[in-house]
Amino acid sequence: MNHFLDIHKTDKADLRQIIDQAAAMKSARNGQPKGAPDAERPLAGRMVALIFEKPSTRTRVSFDVGVRQMGGETMVLSGKEMQLGHGETIADTARVLSRYVDMIMIRTFEEAVLLEMAEHATVPVINGLTNRTHPCQIMADVLTYEEHRGPIRGRKVVWSGDGNNVCASFIHAAGQFGFDFTFTGPPPLDPEREFIDLARAQGVRVDIERDPMKAVEGADLVVTDTWVSMHDSQSTRERRHNQLRGYQVNEALMARAKPDALFMHCLPAHREDEATSAVMDGPNSVIFDEAENRLHAQKAIMRWCLGV
Ligand code: CP
Ligand code: NVA
Repeated sequence: MNHFLDIHKTDKADLRQIIDQAAAMKSARNGQPKGAPDAERPLAGRMVALIFEKPSTRTRVSFDVGVRQMGGETMVLSGKEMQLGHGETIADTARVLSRYVDMIMIRTFEEAVLLEMAEHATVPVINGLTNRTHPCQIMADVLTYEEHRGPIRGRKVVWSGDGNNVCASFIHAAGQFGFDFTFTGPPPLDPEREFIDLARAQGVRVDIERDPMKAVEGADLVVTDTWVSMHDSQSTRERRHNQLRGYQVNEALMARAKPDALFMHCLPAHREDEATSAVMDGPNSVIFDEAENRLHAQKAIMRWCLGV
């Protein structure tokens, strides 16, 4: 059994196998109703707990549908209604859940909760987002890029905005899948140094360029995300908007990237803040393919976790 905790903690060959299997499973069910089971039902007889301590649309629905398509069953639990970390330690919760379910997906605040869950669970644990990273999203994004443009290896990805959890997983992917990464945003919102150094040590270029117009030159993919994440205090809202206004992804910025550069956003988006509708709904945007590919990528992740 394997935990899927982060992209930089997962073997490169395994990451490649997950992406390839996701693409194959996606094409195998082309045109089928969403509720129809896959031809193979590798999760038959398995129960998966989906725990949410933060809101979610895509993660919740895509995991739930993915498990069902593979013949398994799910149980969606909200952190608030559980004893998680309130009446009971995370370690004990992990031990108890492992007696009932075959796999646990958790979306939480502190990364320490995810790590403690994984340490004490005897079933696979999947990271469905923490304050620090969001690996399932970036697996879907790699799948999406390759579907549209071929191998991501050697490409240039530019992140404009807040160096947040989604950005962190993109930097992990740069090191593991072998693409260059440029961050453009204001210094207080830089991604973690540790992640940048790790990717550089794996042999890819990771640059920080304060001028967004310069940053996107030669970009194959431009990515952004919300300026205020779920774990950020709402009181930072106004300051964040002032800091990040100049990093909005709009048509003028996209015009500086390569003509066939794709645009991605993990969603949910605040239209006309971090990205304009003209870009989000424009010809180079693949935002809804990314959302769909959460389903396919996570199905392959779950199979890898269970070895089925
Ligand atoms: N992109 C993403 O993880 O969306 P949700 O918060 O809706 O799950
Ligand atoms: N950075 C965002 C991603 C949401 C999917 C957040 O953590 O709120």
